[in-house]
Amino acid sequence: MLDRLGNLERTHTCGELRESNVGEKVVLMGWVAKKRDFGVLTFIDLRDREGITQIVISEETDLVAHEKAKIVRGEYVVAVTGEVFSRAEGTHNKKLATGDIEIHVHEILILNDAKTLPFELEKAGSQNLASEDLRLKYRYLDLRRPTLQHNIRMRAKAVREIRTFMDGLGFTEIETPILLKSTPEGARDFIVPSRIHSGKFFALPQSPQILKQICMIAGLDKYYQIARCFRDEDLRADRQPEFTQLDVEMSFANQEMVFRVIEGMFNSVLRLIGVELPAQWPRMTYAEAMRRYGSDKPDLRFEMELQDLTANLAGTDFAPFASVIEAGGEIKAITVKGKADYSRKQLDELQEFAKRYGAGALAWIKIGEAETTSSLLKVLGEEKIGELANAAGAEKGDAVLIIAGRKPVVAASLGALRIEVAKRENLIDRTAYKPLLVTEFPMFELDEESGHYMAAHHPFTSPMDEDLEMFRIAIEDESQHHLLGNVRAKAYDAVINGYECAGGSIRIHQKEIQALNFKALGLTPETARERFGFFLDALEFGTPPHGGFAAGIERTCMILCGTENIRDVMAFPKTASAQDLMMDSPGNVDPHQLDELGIKVV
Ligand code: AMO
Repeated sequence: MLDRLGNLERTHTCGELRESNVGEKVVLMGWVAKKRDFGVLTFIDLRDREGITQIVISEETDLVAHEKAKIVRGEYVVAVTGEVFSRAEGTHNKKLATGDIEIHVHEILILNDAKTLPFELEKAGSQNLASEDLRLKYRYLDLRRPTLQHNIRMRAKAVREIRTFMDGLGFTEIETPILLKSTPEGARDFIVPSRIHSGKFFALPQSPQILKQICMIAGLDKYYQIARCFRDEDLRADRQPEFTQLDVEMSFANQEMVFRVIEGMFNSVLRLIGVELPAQWPRMTYAEAMRRYGSDKPDLRFEMELQDLTANLAGTDFAPFASVIEAGGEIKAITVKGKADYSRKQLDELQEFAKRYGAGALAWIKIGEAETTSSLLKVLGEEKIGELANAAGAEKGDAVLIIAGRKPVVAASLGALRIEVAKRENLIDRTAYKPLLVTEFPMFELDEESGHYMAAHHPFTSPMDEDLEMFRIAIEDESQHHLLGNVRAKAYDAVINGYECAGGSIRIHQKEIQALNFKALGLTPETARERFGFFLDALEFGTPPHGGFAAGIERTCMILCGTENIRDVMAFPKTASAQDLMMDSPGNVDPHQLDELGIKVV
């Protein structure tokens, strides 16, 4: 028989009571996290979102309560009335905020029972958790874990902090529609069929990009939004199909002004965890980041920079290297300190890892105490190996890992290897927070399949003034088209600890340059009109210079919560294969619904 709550109200949460409350009569409610039965005494760890309090039910205090406590099991919901006592000498629990006290119970109400859980909630820390799929199916149980409770509330704090910060700077929060038209952020759209306009579709916004620019044309001047975005793209540990951005746009703004907002915003959010970032963040151009770290989002918590060995190998007759150099590729290395004892097996593993990023082979040099060994010793000779090790900055005891290939492949594979090795060798200072503004992104990316240039950021991003001339030439002179690959944009990313936390750009505000850009992207005036006609029209009515950025709320919260799994900072995330295991979506719909929409599944 379950009890009724009646008029009973909580006096305190389960995380609240201290030594100073001793002697008070209290009412606590929560879930039974743990029960220990010692015959005359029963101990319950009662849990709510604020913490855990030890409850003691004794035969001597109340017989009925003691009998009831016998029935109670894990995750039952109970209310207890009792008195706060100091714990007996030697039984204080330093790990609990309430560890100095316990409640001696007079009455216990069993408000609900619970089936045996499909998995155990976390005991201490997040080790030994059940499989993530199982936890996602029972998300409401997983969310009871203190770690997730903490993360969800940290996220709420971060969003509140962001709103306070943006409001303080005079930005206006403006909502834009979810039922929209295709927006260009480079992923596939999620589309929604219209019933009223049969055969027509809305697209969910990949971001509110065009609308926020239209807000600038509308004279709203300083816009922000905590915006939901939807992208049908390959998922990764830091990507979800549905995510949230702090989206910002400002008029009459140059890059420096946007940077001040980015820095100020992140700095105030990081203060929530007691971290003080520099008022002015370090900066690095995209080209430098790629050269030194093989990544446009370098993790600066450790060094191990990429070293270029191409010049040292110029003229080599070792065919694999010679052909790479001949084809304009490069040979680069990282030096792993103190790892001259890497085993064959470890090196094989690292090679397999690098191959996933397109690398061919992984060459190595190990400078041991007695001798230097290398996979290249036979082909390059002792002297060259010594020179390469030197050039890579290696000393006695170190290992050098070398990759040769096309520039993008070397950057991707060696950049990823740098991070992998740092993780394996524990080189990352987990208490450090290293922000960086990456600037001067390329304006275009060559799509190797189609041979077309695509917008590296999005098609409204402005080229750098310095590169405007080259931009024009590349578009107007067919034979100079390849120069598009060299045009840099007023585009930037904010990176913290190797995560791209925000991205943005100064936009094109003059229709002539916008038209040139569409041309560069291979959009005919007709297609451009069909896709963005409303926007091109708007550009004709006095568009102010403007720019902005969007920050990933989940990525930011991953930093705040110290997790590498984006699902840890979302209440109801999707799996890596874009499913909701709890609701079992996506799911089927009623045939009748499809009929109404004029849709047939083939
Ligand atoms: P961008 O596409 O770079 O820019 O996105 C901005 C930031 O949003 C986050 N983000 C994601 N987070 C989780 N899951 C995803 N699938 C995902 N995709 C992006 C990242 C990223 O830095 N309209 C432009 C912004 C602008 O130019 O103002 C835009 O959306 O943290």
